Amino acid sequence: MKRRSIRFRLAVWYSAVLALALVAFGGVSWIAVRHVLFHTADETLRDRVEGVRKFMNEQIGALSVEEIRDEFKEHSVLGPGGDLFQVCDADGVWLYRSAPLENGGVPIRLPRDVPAAGVSEDRTVAGAELRLLARRVEVLGKPYTIQVAVPMHELKEGLSGYAWALIVLIPAVLLIATAGGWWMSRRALQPVNQIIDAARSIGEQSLARRLPVPETQDELQRLSETLNQMLGRIESAFRRITEFTADASHELRTPVALIRTTAELALRKQRTTEEYREALEDVHAESVRTTDLIENLLTLARADAGKATLDRRELDLAQVVREASVQGEKLAGVRNLRFRTEVPDSPVPAIGDPSALRRLLLIVIDNAVKYTPEGEITVRLLSANGNPQVQVSDTGIGIPQGDLARVFERFYRADKSRSRDSGGAGLGLSIAKWIAEVHQGTIEARSEQDRGSTFILTLPGATATP
Ligand SMILES: Nc1ncnc2c1ncn2[C@@H]1O[C@H](COP(=O)(O)OP(=O)(O)OP(=O)(O)O)[C@@H](O)[C@H]1O
Ligand SMILES: [Mg+2]
Repeated sequence: MKRRSIRFRLAVWYSAVLALALVAFGGVSWIAVRHVLFHTADETLRDRVEGVRKFMNEQIGALSVEEIRDEFKEHSVLGPGGDLFQVCDADGVWLYRSAPLENGGVPIRLPRDVPAAGVSEDRTVAGAELRLLARRVEVLGKPYTIQVAVPMHELKEGLSGYAWALIVLIPAVLLIATAGGWWMSRRALQPVNQIIDAARSIGEQSLARRLPVPETQDELQRLSETLNQMLGRIESAFRRITEFTADASHELRTPVALIRTTAELALRKQRTTEEYREALEDVHAESVRTTDLIENLLTLARADAGKATLDRRELDLAQVVREASVQGEKLAGVRNLRFRTEVPDSPVPAIGDPSALRRLLLIVIDNAVKYTPEGEITVRLLSANGNPQVQVSDTGIGIPQGDLARVFERFYRADKSRSRDSGGAGLGLSIAKWIAEVHQGTIEARSEQDRGSTFILTLPGATATP
């Protein structure tokens, strides 16, 4: 089936329900009105029987049948309903017989054939619809049948008039209500169309644009706000990716340019073997750095894509710290720095990927070595509130207070010129932070300029993680 707009479906449903309700209302009210009218007619008939009975009670004893007939004739023209009544006694002798009923051939029952509750019937007499009531009464100890009638013509006319009014009014009301509903749903859904138009105009170049927020305090306002928040997240993710690509290309260009210049210079004229060797060594050193850089970029790209899988298992953190320290000691040795470790002999259980954690520690130790001209590097493994914690302290140049929060950002270097000399791209700590977070741990930096820095890795206790 073809999908229709919400507005169309709303209007159809609304009209259908309304039509049903109106028809039900019309039907029920017509039946109720009819019931009331017929009930009133029956009531009138009963009153008239009672009137005739009273009249007989007062008059019948003193009068002969002939006289009674005359009395009836006189009275009948005065009472309501005219002379539409007839009376007969137990032997079927008429005390009074109205001309229209007689001419219409309306029979009367003998008193003994009439049940106590009376007999009601509808008849057409000489083209007029009548409702009749026959009742048995006792007057001065003798049974009689009294039969009275009312014309139903006016009542039925009124009833059919009412039916016609309903037949005309119901569609009219339905039409007006449907038109009103159609108009109202257009008004209510107007913001949706605006949101659709605005959303359509947002492309990758215009991610900063936002959807209009209708001040309606309803679902549509919440929808717009939620979509805008989502757009905000997409925009910042998109910006991060664009910046990452730009920074990565920029970082890659420098070593590749260096390799190229070195090679071009070496090739410009005939060189001695020594000079070639030197050039090749430069090329080699630069390509090693480039490989490391590409390795780091790949790690972060995989982390972003959620494709980097880490092995999570129970491990001895003391063992991991010891292994990283062995390499750290070598790095420190090259720079003539003292290297101390304070690691307990007993195992420190944790859950994680040993090689990733080793990599994290080496990133931090490598920084400590790089940014410490002289002095000492200390690696400690301890327990903080039941959580294993590794602290790497140095006595190096430190990090200015303003940069402390940003050192974990990608490509961020506190001192651009110096870092470039030591070959850092500013990716180490962002990888360290990612590894810490994947382990549900934290890494933070404390530092005092010219006095040294401490990087603190805290992992959740072995029992805290599955
Ligand atoms: N121990 C430290 N002492 C002083 N400054 C530090 C220390 N560790 C990090 N920094 C500062 O934080 C910056 C970011 O460190 P990060 O490890 O992310 O990058 P990098 O060392 O410059 O390059 P990479 O690690 O990618 O080779 C460094 O450039 C440096 O300015
Ligand atoms: Mg580093």
